[in-house]
Parts: sequence; C-alpha cells; structure tokens
Amino acid sequence: MALLDIHVLGSPILRQETQRVPEVTGELRRLADDMLETMHAAKGIGLAAPQVGRRERLFVAEVEERKIVLFNPEIVLAEGKAKGEEGCLSIPEVYGDVERATRVVMRGVNAQGESVEEEATALLARCMLHELDHLDGRLFLDHLGVWKRRSAMQQWEREKAKYPSLRRAVVVAKDLAAQHNEEAL
Ligand code: NI
Repeated sequence: MALLDIHVLGSPILRQETQRVPEVTGELRRLADDMLETMHAAKGIGLAAPQVGRRERLFVAEVEERKIVLFNPEIVLAEGKAKGEEGCLSIPEVYGDVERATRVVMRGVNAQGESVEEEATALLARCMLHELDHLDGRLFLDHLGVWKRRSAMQQWEREKAKYPSLRRAVVVAKDLAAQHNEEAL
C-alpha cells in the first residue's frame, strides 16, 4: 500500500466530473486500499478519488470501525435534515456548518465488485454525502451561505500558501491512538 498526495482547493480535478467504473479491477482495489491508508494517515473519515487526483467514481469512508468502499455510488434514499460542522482533507483548517440528510441509503459496488446498498445515519451519512459531492465536483464550501463562504475563503487564503504545488503530502501518523480525533472528510 502507498500513501497518496491529496489535492487541495485550487487543483482543477476537485471541480471536474468523474467517470463510472465499468469493473472493479485489481488496480482499483489497490487504489481503494491506498485511499483508506491515506485517509487514516491524514486523520480523515472519508476520501474521494478526485482528492487523490483520480477520475473514478469512488469514495472510501470509515466511522466508528465501519469501513465503506463504494464505487459508482448513487443515493437510493435520503431523509431528515441537520446542520453539522464539516471540514475537508482538501481544504485543511477550514470548517463550516452544512445541512445534510441524517439518514441515507446508497447503492454502489464494493471492493469485491458486488452490488451493495449501504445504509448510514448521523456522521457516517454526512460523510458519505460529502464524499458523493466530491464525485460531482462539489465541495462543502458550496453549501455555505455567502458570508460564511467568504470567511471560509479568507481562512483558506491564509492556509493555501502552505501548498504551492496544490498537493498535500500525507505522512504516517506516529501516534496511532491519536487517529480519528479530527473529523475531516
Ligand atoms: Ni472533502
């Protein structure tokens, strides 16, 4: 497995459409494993393919030991609404409240190439919806009102100088116990 660089806000791929995966190949299974490893190292709970520079419709997520790898995800059901704070591994140190469904069912294909339906509530539902947005070139910033978005962008203006290449290198977390303290998606 390998750690992948994460593209940050400003990298064009974060705004591009992705493509459905016709078949889950060994290469794509390795990509999903690498994304999970990268997500863990970056202390995130979700990661979508465009964030690692790929065009496949694929995201991974893990909340409270429940791990999801989903190719070609589609919403079957989304219900309830709640606001909650979100961050994004592609927009470090920027956070904002986003209204999302509180329960979601998504259909897709898992790492073994099987059709599956994944049901989730609360934080995992939020995470999956955030990752699905990534596959359509949308970021959590797009859900913010004009003023909240402006202040988020001001925060990003200060942060982005750290990423002149628009890539963020992830390093292995030294303290495994410290993982999942942050909730970046
Ligand atoms: Ni994100």
